[in-house]
Amino acid sequence: MSLIPFDDREGSIWFDGALIPWRDAKLHVLSHGLHYASSVFEGERVYNGRVFKSLEHTQRLHKSAATLDFEIPYSVAEIEAAKHETIAAMGISDGYVRPVAWRGSEMMGVSAQHNTIHLAIAAWEWPSYFDPEAKMKGIKLALSKWRRPAPDTAPVHAKAAGLYMICTMSKHKAEKEGFHDALMLDYRGLVAEATGANVFFVMKDGKIHTPTPDCFLDGITRRTVIELAKARGHEIVERQIRPEEMADATECFLTGTAAEVTPVGQIGDYSFTPGELTRGLVEDYDALVRMAPANAQAAE
Ligand SMILES: Cc1ncc(COP(=O)(O)O)c(C=O)c1O
Repeated sequence: MSLIPFDDREGSIWFDGALIPWRDAKLHVLSHGLHYASSVFEGERVYNGRVFKSLEHTQRLHKSAATLDFEIPYSVAEIEAAKHETIAAMGISDGYVRPVAWRGSEMMGVSAQHNTIHLAIAAWEWPSYFDPEAKMKGIKLALSKWRRPAPDTAPVHAKAAGLYMICTMSKHKAEKEGFHDALMLDYRGLVAEATGANVFFVMKDGKIHTPTPDCFLDGITRRTVIELAKARGHEIVERQIRPEEMADATECFLTGTAAEVTPVGQIGDYSFTPGELTRGLVEDYDALVRMAPANAQAAE
C-alpha cells in the first residue's frame, strides 16, 4: 500500500501557539504523553469549510484534559480561533481536524506534576463523498475479546489516547479476519461500542435501541443522531443491551465523526439488513452537516 506518511506532508500545523511548517511539528522521544499516555485528542470533520459541532469538540478536549488532571494552557475560545486559523492556512473545505494535547518532558516518571502541557492542531483534506447506495450494503464487525473498562478502572468518558490501545488491537484482529471493524462489549459483558464509533440497533419493536453510555464515550454524533431520529418520530431506548439481544435487531448502524452514520450488515454471527430507517438517518445526517452556515448555526 502506498501511503503518504503523516509526518512528511506540505502545509502548516498549529503548535503551541503558532503555525509552523508541517514537517517541523515534532516532539521529543522523552515526552510523558508518549510513555504514559497522558494525551487527549479530538477528531472533527470540516464540511463546506465549517467544523461540525466545533465548540462541542473543543469543550470535550478541555474536559478530557481535566479528567487526566491537566489543564490545556489555551482557552476554548483560543482553541476555536486556532482551529480556524489552521483550516484557513491549509485551505480546507472538506477535511478532518485533529487537536491533540499532551504532557511534555520536564519529568519522566509516573508523576508529572511539573510537565508543560502542549497543544497541536493539524488539519487535512478528507473529501466526503455521499454515496448512500454504497453505504447501504453495510459493514461487517467482528466481536472483540477486549472489553471497555469500568468507570472506576479508566477515565472512560475522556477522549484519551490510552483508551485506544485496546481499540487498535481489536481492529487489527478484525481486519486480519476480513471484517471492517470490531464491536466491543463492556466490563459486564454488555454491548458497548465499536472501536471508534457508537452503536444503535433497530429492534423488532420498531424502536431504536442504543447502549447507555455509562462506560464509553457519549459521542457528539451519537447525540446528534438521537435528535435526528426523534425529529423523524422514532422512539429511542437507551438501556443495557445484552449481546444475545442482537438476534432481535433488524437494522444496525454506527455513529461517529469519522463513521458519520454507517449501516452495519453483520456483527459476529448476527446479521442485519440495512433498511429505510437507517437510510433516513444517513440522509438526515448528511443534510445536517452540509447545511449552509447561517441555518447550521441555528440547528446546532
Ligand atoms: C471510542 C469512540 N467511541 C465513540 C466515538 C464517537 O464519538 P463522536 O461522535 O464524538 O466522534 C469515537 C470517535 O470519536 C470514539 O473514538
